Amino acid sequence: MAGRKRNPTKITKGIGIAVNEILKGNLIVLPTETVYGLGANATNEKAVLKIYQTKERPLFDPLIVHIKSIKDIKKYAKDIPKEVFRLAEAFSPGPITFIVQKKQNIPDIVTSGLDSVAIRIPSHPMIQKVLKKSGKPIAAPSANMFGRISPTTAKDVLKELKGKVNYILDGGICEIGIESTVVSFLDDNIKILRPGFITKRDIEKVLRKKVILTRDRTRKGKHKSDIYSPGMLKNHYAPSTPMYLTDNLKDFIEEKRVGILDFSQYENLNEIALNLFSDLRKLDEENYAYLVAKKVKDSGIGSAINDRLEKASRGRVKMGKWEIKFIEKR
Ligand code: TXA
Ligand code: MG
Repeated sequence: MAGRKRNPTKITKGIGIAVNEILKGNLIVLPTETVYGLGANATNEKAVLKIYQTKERPLFDPLIVHIKSIKDIKKYAKDIPKEVFRLAEAFSPGPITFIVQKKQNIPDIVTSGLDSVAIRIPSHPMIQKVLKKSGKPIAAPSANMFGRISPTTAKDVLKELKGKVNYILDGGICEIGIESTVVSFLDDNIKILRPGFITKRDIEKVLRKKVILTRDRTRKGKHKSDIYSPGMLKNHYAPSTPMYLTDNLKDFIEEKRVGILDFSQYENLNEIALNLFSDLRKLDEENYAYLVAKKVKDSGIGSAINDRLEKASRGRVKMGKWEIKFIEKR
């Protein structure tokens, strides 16, 4: 509206403020153990619409519904396979999301018209308090503009969403740093749609059977739609500076114009995951001509890190300084 003042966006630690925003049908940025989320009351269609508008996220990309406890899964989902509860007992509250059949009380806008819903029980104490005190399920995607790097601190959120939300609830640095593992239970085979902190091995150990880490971005069969699982779109988590994958970071050390995503300072894969998005953001702010990164060992949480690196680089690979190749896009 002409002449309207820009919203100042305040960083707060007030749980009451966050609860109020949820109950009023406003958006509120909430900390989770993985990344910050842009939350709204999942049962309020107008509030949920604001999430898509604010992030400029396409309406075909469904949201995760955050709930307070395992007991509540049944409130919003039906025909829930027993494996969901076994995994929830092992890993929830925590960084795992279950795709299951939805009940009517979850509006279509949350699930992009799908008859399934993504459910997660986050462990961060602040979002837990907001869930308990508001009594509402909270739909929340990562608190970044669509396709960009997920934020892991309140300050990074501010850079993404300044003027677009009233409040950011500050819960410190997210302790995991990359998004939850998304697991689908819609077919007979259990499928990991997005790798995350909870690994394929972790899941298989609990279930005592094999699950599939799928590269297939389409859903086929008896369910309503065959759209992508959009977190698996090939371009995602992307810096504004072009980024390339390479096997030879050494080739670029002398190049002043090139930003190197350097993991050598970190002790293990968990530390890399924790710092991945914030390091990427820092490099992106430095005005480099381009960025380069090298994939990590593709096991455990390494799969999740490599998934994010491939998407951030949009599949572009540097073979030496000049030659560019495109790898098979997922
Ligand atoms: O750690 C996380 O999961 C964070 C925090 C905020 O909870 N959230 C997050 O949300 O990463 P978002 O929207 O950035 O990613 C959600 C992913 C998307 O890939 C989306 O396509 C998928 O979950 N998803 C949601 N509902 C789905 C459904 N019914 N079927 C298949 N995929 C679904
Ligand atoms: Mg996201």
